[in-house]
Amino acid sequence: MSLPDGLRLRRAHPQDLDDVMWLEHASFPTDAWSASQMSGELYSPHGYYIVVETTEGGAPTIVGYAGLSSLAGNPVADVQTIAVAADRRGTGIGRVLFTELLDEARRRGVREVFLEVRADNPVAQAMYTGFGFERIAVRPRYYQPDGVDAWVMRAELSPAAPTPGVGPIGQETLDERD
Ligand SMILES: CC(C)(COP(=O)(O)OP(=O)(O)OC[C@H]1O[C@@H](n2cnc3c(N)ncnc32)[C@H](O)[C@@H]1OP(=O)(O)O)[C@@H](O)C(=O)NCCC(=O)NCCS
Repeated sequence: MSLPDGLRLRRAHPQDLDDVMWLEHASFPTDAWSASQMSGELYSPHGYYIVVETTEGGAPTIVGYAGLSSLAGNPVADVQTIAVAADRRGTGIGRVLFTELLDEARRRGVREVFLEVRADNPVAQAMYTGFGFERIAVRPRYYQPDGVDAWVMRAELSPAAPTPGVGPIGQETLDERD
C-alpha cells in the first residue's frame, strides 16, 4: 500500500486545526463538527489523529485526516472520522489513513473496532466492508439535520506483528508509506 508521490502521512498536531476544519466543512457540509469539537479530538489523550499532506512546492497542505479513539487498556476503539479532499479521492489516501488507524488500534491491544457511517454513503461503506467491517445496527435519523440513518459497523482485529506508529504529537517523525 502506498501514498501517491508527493504526499506523506504524519501524526496530526493541534496546530492543524484550521486546515482540518476546512476539509471537515468541505467533506461534511451539513453535519461538520465544530472547531471546538475537533480541537478537543486533536488534544485528547485517548485519540490518535493522523493527516496526509502534500510535500511538493509551497507550504504543505493537508489533503486527508482520520482519527481513532480508545481508552488506555480498553480492548474496544472507535473510528471517529476520516476524510480526503474531493479532488484526491479514489487515489488510495483513504485506504492508507484507515490502515494506519487499524494498525494503531492493534498497537493499543484493541480487539474490536466500531464506527458509524451514513446510510447514504456507499463509498465509505465499501471501504469499511473491504477492511472486514460488518453492519451490526442501524440508528434511525442519527445524522441531523438531514435525518439520515447511521449504520453502526464493527470489525474484530486479530493481533498482528507490531508496526511503528507515526510519532507523538509535536514530534516531527514523518512517515512516507510505500
Ligand atoms: C470515504 C473516503 C475517506 C475514502 O477515501 P479515498 O481516498 O477516496 O479512498 P481510496 O481511494 O483509498 O479507496 C478506498 C476504498 O474506498 C472505496 N471507494 C473509493 N472510491 C470509491 C468509489 N468511487 N465508489 C465505490 N467505492 C469507492 C473502495 O472500497 C476502495 O477500496 P479499493 O480501492 O480496494 O476498491 C472519501 O471518499 C471521503 O473523504 N469521503 C467524504 C467524507 C466521508 O464520507 N468520510 C467517511 C465518513 S464515515
